[in-house]
Amino acid sequence: MRMLKSLVSEKYLLDEDLSSMTPDSEIFTKRRSHFQSQMLPNSIAFLFSSSPKTRSRDVFYPFRQDSDFFYLTGIEEPLSILVIEPEQCFLYLEPSDPEKEIWEGPKLELSRAEHFHGISKAKSRKDFFPKDISLLLSNRDVLYLRQKGTRDHFEEKILTEINLLSQRARSGKERSPHTIISPNTILHPMRLIKSSEEKSLLEENLAITRDAHLSLLQKTQPGMFEYELEAIIEYEFRKQNSYAAYPSIVASGKNACILHYTKNNRKIEKGDLILVDAGAEKLCMCTDITRTFPAGEKFSSIQKEVYEAVLESQKKAIRKCTVGSNMDDVHKEAVLSLIESLISFGILKGNPIDHWERSQETEQTKDAKKIKDISYKRYFMHRTGHWLGMDVHDVGSYYNMKKPLSLQNGMVCTVEPGLYFSPLDETIPREFRGIGVRIEDDVWIQDRNPIVLSQEIPKEVSDIEKIREESFEHISKP
Ligand code: GLY
Ligand code: MN
Ligand code: MN
Repeated sequence: MRMLKSLVSEKYLLDEDLSSMTPDSEIFTKRRSHFQSQMLPNSIAFLFSSSPKTRSRDVFYPFRQDSDFFYLTGIEEPLSILVIEPEQCFLYLEPSDPEKEIWEGPKLELSRAEHFHGISKAKSRKDFFPKDISLLLSNRDVLYLRQKGTRDHFEEKILTEINLLSQRARSGKERSPHTIISPNTILHPMRLIKSSEEKSLLEENLAITRDAHLSLLQKTQPGMFEYELEAIIEYEFRKQNSYAAYPSIVASGKNACILHYTKNNRKIEKGDLILVDAGAEKLCMCTDITRTFPAGEKFSSIQKEVYEAVLESQKKAIRKCTVGSNMDDVHKEAVLSLIESLISFGILKGNPIDHWERSQETEQTKDAKKIKDISYKRYFMHRTGHWLGMDVHDVGSYYNMKKPLSLQNGMVCTVEPGLYFSPLDETIPREFRGIGVRIEDDVWIQDRNPIVLSQEIPKEVSDIEKIREESFEHISKP
């Protein structure tokens, strides 16, 4: 199986490596052709790589390539521009600068970019502004340009150029594009359906994520700090040449009720549950996994009841991930199951379908706040899942003309129900307060048989407790 490889380090490849690398670029060439085939006549598309982002003064955040740019090029270089016309593609790259390379190392060379990427021409970025841009835009009808609404300098400069061009257009000799469309309209439906190469990469990254979660189950001990668990996760990720796809959540005890908890600075106590939401990312492909496990050897009986309720809801929701179903159906299935459990705990009254229907009626109204306080939304306040891919919350619509989009083969989503009982909620029995559980897997849609790509990461109570018990036996041996 061909794998998607980053092409950033090609400069160091020997010539005999070239032939083995070449097929990789076919994936990107194929994607660009698919994009081109959907472009309007006499159009042009500009796609920009990410820019380095300052962390403090001269220090930058680790560079992460823009997902759309990587999807079409496989190139991890910053400050690059991809130009797509219906018939050909150009690439503008940061030119070689021997002074800069002393500090930053070599960049992808222009000639290499052409060789590997099926790009008609690779040019220096210095040629784009101000020389080539007006030629590229002149007499063009349609421009595909993402307008993020941020002050991204490339996009702003292009809009300025269009204004200049329209002023010159008054002379009648030139005209500027009359329509600007987001390239997302073509790209994001493409990215929503994953290829077999992308599935392999997801599986590879999930194997790393599995190792990290397993390592936590084996190494966590009461008395450790949450950041030590984060360090174990990051060690596994980096050891296998990947990064965290998002800041890892390590939430022990009542911190598990904070949905985006990332402080990770509490000392873990024996009776705690620990919720860990962490996924590896390599080659711009994200994974997104949550597991919840006891700090001690076993779940307490109340923790186990809540955990089993979430697990049951998750399994039912996963079974709904079939072609023709949709993410609203998946959510409804998870919610109904959770409501049933909340009723059995004595926390909610009535019947599940009434709760669901009332929540739907009030979703768009001023009662939305009220339903959040009175029904299941007080304990399960997020959606059950989202698309997963090159972005953790991946691109692609969930609705088409207000109707939920049907699941299709090759889509990937998370399924991640949870129950969160605030430590401050005096309306619920005391023993529930401060318990937070989420279980999240990554699911590949395939006909009527969804594949849980993360199935090797333990989630059954008995499997988790077995590993936890073994970890204590290991520690107590002299
Ligand atoms: N880790 C982010 C999420 O679960 O959506
Ligand atoms: Mn997650
Ligand atoms: Mn998620």
